[in-house]
Amino acid sequence: MAASSAIAQVATAAQLRAHVTAWRKTGARVALVPTMGALHDGHLALVGTARARADRVVVSVFVNPTQFAPHEDFARYPRDLDTDAAKLADSGGVDLIYAPDAREMYPEGFATSIVPEGPARGLESDFRPHFFAGVATVVAKLFIQCAPDFATFGEKDYQQLLVVKRLVKDLDLPMEILGVPTVREADGLALSSRNAYLTQENRKIASHLNRVLAEVGARAKAGRSIPQTEAEGAALLIASGFERVDYVALRDAETLAPLRILERPARVLAAARVGGVRLIDNRSV
Ligand code: PAJ
Repeated sequence: MAASSAIAQVATAAQLRAHVTAWRKTGARVALVPTMGALHDGHLALVGTARARADRVVVSVFVNPTQFAPHEDFARYPRDLDTDAAKLADSGGVDLIYAPDAREMYPEGFATSIVPEGPARGLESDFRPHFFAGVATVVAKLFIQCAPDFATFGEKDYQQLLVVKRLVKDLDLPMEILGVPTVREADGLALSSRNAYLTQENRKIASHLNRVLAEVGARAKAGRSIPQTEAEGAALLIASGFERVDYVALRDAETLAPLRILERPARVLAAARVGGVRLIDNRSV
């Protein structure tokens, strides 16, 4: 079989807009899948969902500097656009790759930022205070540049998904956000570009994260108090070999507000560190 043909790539918002405008003239429904590259099957699931519901699919690849703190892994974040482009070509579901550079997204004099609250409060924000402002600003720019009918986001980053849904509502952006279930390894570890940083030993420890979240959900459902269950979850992660637990939290699945009792759809979310690698995961309860 012939190798899949290359997908068109553009690096400026003007080129992106020209493609989307031409598609719109034919009445096409357009989807955007925002990513930071280092693509894996989780990203490809977002592409699959987009493909199933759109005539044209754009994947953006941009490692966004403003969502990394100075001490975080921006410099060493994996970047390999050729490999990403080949994976997207193989997936067969993508019409255009938009891969701007930092100057295109943040030209000289850039001075505007979107600072989300509501679902952005707490959890990740307690440990990465500028993260969601960086995400909200870049995602809003991507939405305005592309003007898609909808965009797909992973439940893997559940708080991010809710922040982006809120952003679209609050700013009256005429588009929808579709959440896509987390893609996992056979042992339950959520696929993540950061899993590549794990040693073999730490990779084994990492697989406990999803199991502990399932256990926390089961204990809460069995009637154990929520603060006690959260504390037990953190202790189970430490006992499994994680060196630090940022949070294990049971929250309202729609607002991420803290819960006193399990009376509404809930979500259990956690962030923990193993071998210096910070992993996040979540499950419905
Ligand atoms: P990135 O980490 O590259 O993730 C891009 C999208 O893929 C996000 O919507 C994320 O939730 C989804 N994703 C990652 N791992 C997944 C998995 N195992 N299963 C399902 N979906 C998964 O998230 C970002 O980039 C950035 O913050 C971004 C939104 C692009 C803004 O810069």
